[in-house]
Amino acid sequence: MSIARSGARPLAPRDEAEREFHFTTADFKQVKQRIYDNAGISLADHKMDLVYNRLVRRIRALNVAGFKEYFKYLDNTPDEYNNFINAMTTNLTSFYRESHHFEYISNVFLPQFAKNNQRKIRIWSSACSVGEEPYSIAISLLESGINITNWQVEIYATDIDTNVLQTASNAVYPMDRIEGLSISRKKIGFLRGVGENKNNVLVRPEIRKWIKFSQCNLMEEWPIREPLDIIFCRNVMIYFDKETQNRLLDRMEKLLRVGGLLCIGHSESPSRDMSNFKILGRTMYQKIK
Ligand SMILES: C[S@@+](CC[C@H](N)C(=O)[O-])C[C@H]1O[C@@H](n2cnc3c(N)ncnc32)[C@H](O)[C@@H]1O
Repeated sequence: MSIARSGARPLAPRDEAEREFHFTTADFKQVKQRIYDNAGISLADHKMDLVYNRLVRRIRALNVAGFKEYFKYLDNTPDEYNNFINAMTTNLTSFYRESHHFEYISNVFLPQFAKNNQRKIRIWSSACSVGEEPYSIAISLLESGINITNWQVEIYATDIDTNVLQTASNAVYPMDRIEGLSISRKKIGFLRGVGENKNNVLVRPEIRKWIKFSQCNLMEEWPIREPLDIIFCRNVMIYFDKETQNRLLDRMEKLLRVGGLLCIGHSESPSRDMSNFKILGRTMYQKIK
């Protein structure tokens, strides 16, 4: 089972003559424009080989003659846009990636939250990829030691890519994906597979029931309206230009309740005014007004 595509793929031959299909700078510009218009993703000019490698699979699968024919097909077949976007996204993720966010939730955020007599918590993993991020959030809630059995826990897990959402909702992962986790996290989160699943683990049903997976393009209308306590928007803003990032952060700020937590990725740093937030250390922001 394929879980996440790594950013490091074999490069296509750089020499145009060696490529199976012609892929010109004008073709690359077309892809850039389409992925920007549809997903907000800004592709750097040096990504031409990567784009070729990703799209060539669609061209082979559809048996069209080349890139120009593929663009025509795309224009005449709106349903193909999902496949186009799925092919273009980078889905690299892992359980407990950037673990300090999850540790802060179990050790600090949740205990404070519980002290205020809160019994309902609403969390959004806004670019959840294959699900390892929202499942890690759920495990960190249980790891806190606070009895949340009677709480209302709602974790929205969304992504633009429909393939990764399918993997996420299957909740089955190869054993080696959880290799680096502590024994306690493994016990809280997973059941060992049996029979043909003996090399896989399954996320425990009591965790799965908290998480609602659905497709959401961050550039479009969001399915979430009520205020949230925690938003994860990690390692997705890097694909957007500054203007798009700022617009996204404006919208997320509005959706977060005062006291709520915003976690972003390790290489992302907001260029907009964040004075309504207290910086809680690396890439964590608490809304204070
Ligand atoms: C590198 S992964 C990050 C996954 C996870 N948040 C993490 O940090 O491990 C980026 C994800 O953003 C998603 N993505 C890209 N553009 C998006 C958009 N416009 N709306 C929603 N998700 C998007 C991709 O499909 C991909 O799964």
